[in-house]
Formats: sequence, C-alpha cells, structure tokens
Amino acid sequence: MPTIRQVAEKARVSPTTVSHVINNTRFVSKDVQRRVRAAMDELGYRPNALARSLRRGETHTLGLVLPDSANPFFAEVGRCIESAAFELGYSVILCNTEGDSAKEHLYLDVLSKKQVDGVIFVATGHQADALRVLLRQMPVVVVDRDLPDVEVDAVLADNRRGGYLATQHLVDLGHRRIGCIAGPSNVTPSAQRVTGYREALFEANLPVDESLILRGDFHPESGWAAARNLLSRPDAPTALFACNDLMAIGVMRAAAETGRRVPADLAIVGFDDIELATYTIPPLTTIGQPKMEMGRAAVKLLVDRICDRARPLHRELLPTQLVVRGSCGGHV
Ligand code: RIB
Repeated sequence: MPTIRQVAEKARVSPTTVSHVINNTRFVSKDVQRRVRAAMDELGYRPNALARSLRRGETHTLGLVLPDSANPFFAEVGRCIESAAFELGYSVILCNTEGDSAKEHLYLDVLSKKQVDGVIFVATGHQADALRVLLRQMPVVVVDRDLPDVEVDAVLADNRRGGYLATQHLVDLGHRRIGCIAGPSNVTPSAQRVTGYREALFEANLPVDESLILRGDFHPESGWAAARNLLSRPDAPTALFACNDLMAIGVMRAAAETGRRVPADLAIVGFDDIELATYTIPPLTTIGQPKMEMGRAAVKLLVDRICDRARPLHRELLPTQLVVRGSCGGHV
C-alpha cells in the first residue's frame, strides 16, 4: 500500500501538506492540491479512514436501528434520516432488527464496536437494557417508539391524538359499532392510539366493547385475520380503525372476501399515511404521521448532542392529522 510519505515525495511537498489536502484542514494552493491529487492517483493511495477517525475520535457515521425496514413507514422515515444525515456530512449504517430483541442487542454492540458517532433508535419493544449500555458510550435519539423509563432525547408523534381523530371521524359519520385492530402490545404507539380510540368513544357517550378490540402485529395478514374475526360476528362492526396502514390494507381484503363494499358496508381508517394508502381501492382514509419532520428532527437532535453532550434532554412531540380519502365515505 503506498504511504502518505511516498505521495509527498512524488508531489514535492511535506506529508503534513498531503494531510491538509486530504482533510481540508488548512488552505493549500490550487497548484499544490493538483500535484498532491495527481500523485495520489498515480500511486493509487487511499487515505486510511479508520486511522483518521481514531485520531479525531469521530467517524462521521451514524447508526440507524429500525424494527422493520420493509415496512413503508420505516422505509420513508429511514430515507429522510439518511438524506438529512448526508446533508450534514454523515454516513448512515442501517440495522434492521426484524422486531427481534436478540438481533437488536447484537446490532447495538456492533454499532458500539464500529464507534459510530451516534445512533437513531426505533425500539423493537419496551426492554431497554442494551440501549442503556449504549447510552453510556454515545449519543442516542429515540424515534417513534418511546422508552418511558430511559432518559434520552426523543422524537415522537402524537399517537393518542391520532387514534382519537380516526375514531371521532367514524363517529361523526354515524358509526356506532367501531372495531379497533391494535398493533403489538410492547410498543408505545399502538397503546397510545387505542387510548385515543377509547377517549373518542367516551366523548361520544358510546360504550367501549372490549370484544371489538383485537391485536395485530402491524403486518397486513394480522389486520386481515382480525377483520375476518370481527366481520364473522352477528353484531359485526360497521367501521374498523386499524392502528397502521398495512393492517388496514389487510382489512380491505377481508371486506372483499366477506362481500362487503368499502365504505358502504364497512368504513376503514388506517394510521401512518404511507404512499400505498393512495393506491388502494378506494384510497385509504388514514392518520398522517410526520415522517419527514421526524427524520430531520432526529438527525438534528443527534448531531446537536454529538456536538454538545451536556445539552439538556429534548423530547419532541410532532402532530398527527386526519387524512380523509374514500375508505370512509359520507355519513351513513
Ligand atoms: O407501521 C409501523 C408502525 O410501527 C407505525 O405506525 C409506526 O408508528 C411504528 O411504531
């Protein structure tokens, strides 16, 4: 491997000057820059990024831990995070935990060993032991899924308000038997959305029928299975609120299989407002999550923390909003 000294000799400059050209750490004339880069190309010299990062104590790399990179919600948030990080000169290492806590532990250990400058973290569940260890080593920002007993910067969406808006919309359309398909019990967004669902029914003086609240796993099949269960009953609901769009898409299939027209026979509301929501037939009424704002805010918070470890903790709650499309229709 050619060395920095060989580059310097070939370009007739000092090794220090070569280092300044590579790291852009001091003014160097255009002519000298040209000679140094020509020497690097001729010798095939590549700066040792690992050595440089060890010297500087930074790698300009961020870790991004997601529970399901195939889910369009996380794909869209992840794309915004990567773009915002790139604008600030950071590369992103994506770790897809597939909702597996053992894999989550492994990836947090990998990110620690790779000495990334910080981590943006979406939890697979409530357990936070591995994250506590990482927090002692580097800045972390939690996104989307809160970890109530961990002191950490966080960027969250107003899930409770979103669940309330979804249900209130169905009540306003005249529905009185409204089912709810929740997501996994070990992540905060689902529980918060169901709380909003309950609050909207309570406010409308409607009873909460616990048998109309079933649990899914945020994947389409679980929404389909829960809907087939609910729609098989003699007193089946006329509306369903699914706690994410992928499960709502599964509900649409169940409606078609049971001979129900959407929205005439069954109104459906989802949550996330992923791109797919506009391509279902009819297009899906849903709750919009601030995916781009979430991603950008998380990167800004993390880089601010990298630059100042002592800054006060910051928790951001971003608004959600009702997006009315064709899957709810007009008043029943
Ligand atoms: O669709 C995936 C769900 O999990 C989203 O609603 C998001 O909030 C995440 O928690």
